[in-house]
Amino acid sequence: MDNSIDSLLLKVTSKRKEYKKLFNNNKAKEQLYKWLKSELAYTSNNIEGNTLTRKETRLVIEEDITSSSKPLVHYQEAINHARAFDYIIDIIKSDKKISENIVLDIHKRLLSGIDDYNAGFYRKCSVIISGSRVILPNPMKVPDLMKDFWDKYKSSTSIEDIIKLHLDFVSIHPFADGNGRCARLLMNCLLMCNDYCPIIIRPRDRKRYINSVEKAQLTGDTQEYTKFMLSRLSQSFDTIFDIFDNKNEIPQEKLMTIAKFAKEVGLPVSTIRYRVKAGKLKAALYTESGYMMFSAEQINEVKETGKN
Ligand SMILES: Nc1ncnc2c1ncn2[C@@H]1O[C@H](COP(=O)(O)OP(=O)(O)O)[C@@H](O)[C@H]1O
Ligand SMILES: [Mg+2]
Repeated sequence: MDNSIDSLLLKVTSKRKEYKKLFNNNKAKEQLYKWLKSELAYTSNNIEGNTLTRKETRLVIEEDITSSSKPLVHYQEAINHARAFDYIIDIIKSDKKISENIVLDIHKRLLSGIDDYNAGFYRKCSVIISGSRVILPNPMKVPDLMKDFWDKYKSSTSIEDIIKLHLDFVSIHPFADGNGRCARLLMNCLLMCNDYCPIIIRPRDRKRYINSVEKAQLTGDTQEYTKFMLSRLSQSFDTIFDIFDNKNEIPQEKLMTIAKFAKEVGLPVSTIRYRVKAGKLKAALYTESGYMMFSAEQINEVKETGKN
């Protein structure tokens, strides 16, 4: 398969057309936003260490349901991410231009009630990324770097610029915490403003995501990073096409037993059990009697394993 940047660009350009057609009215868009609100909270928080499952994230966001088995702060992170997502949707709807203050507001929503001292403010201290050789800018330089950042990107509409903006943002690392989540929301806001779907970076993409960011930072070669992000964009389109099944509504979420799920993905039950045991796959939910249940969204995830 030709996976050059040019061929990926062609792919996402054609999927963008299909996507525009599918979500061409307000009702369809609202359904999509509803789904994305929980999906992005789950995936983006998960790669930063949040332990809620997709189902738990959806339940707390959509129905305010929590259980005592997970840290309270992880629920707060899910709710905060959903609020920040609502905020970017308002920006998109009102055709407002994204700005430095808007991003500070996004950050404020992400850390509100978790770290109010830092929420909505650039860092005042040095930060290091554990296990990484990358040296992040001195805090004194952050305001100027962010000014340059906005000068450079304030009118960005091309897919390459939007993807590069995320890399530059996380490389400045302007906040004490919340940089990854904030950068992804900013990028996704710009993508949606320009008729692309958001880039969903799944929990199992974490390593490739981090490695590609770090490689770009250490060598200045952004090819691998760009390819990774473009292929995630292309797959995010596919996931959305699959979930919405070319209809403008979210299908009722039905959870299925391991037997049904195994059949759907075309694998033996033992393989599914093995993957769960090895941490490669997470059940969407455990029933009270301890049975694993899986969601329709996971079918595609499992089918994609091995493809990338
Ligand atoms: N060299 C690097 N290695 C790993 N992550 C990096 C690196 N440079 C920037 N990052 C970004 O830092 C993010 C984590 O920073 P952090 O402030 O803790 O964000 P969050 O609180 O959202 O987790 C990652 O998601 C990644 O986007
Ligand atoms: Mg963090």
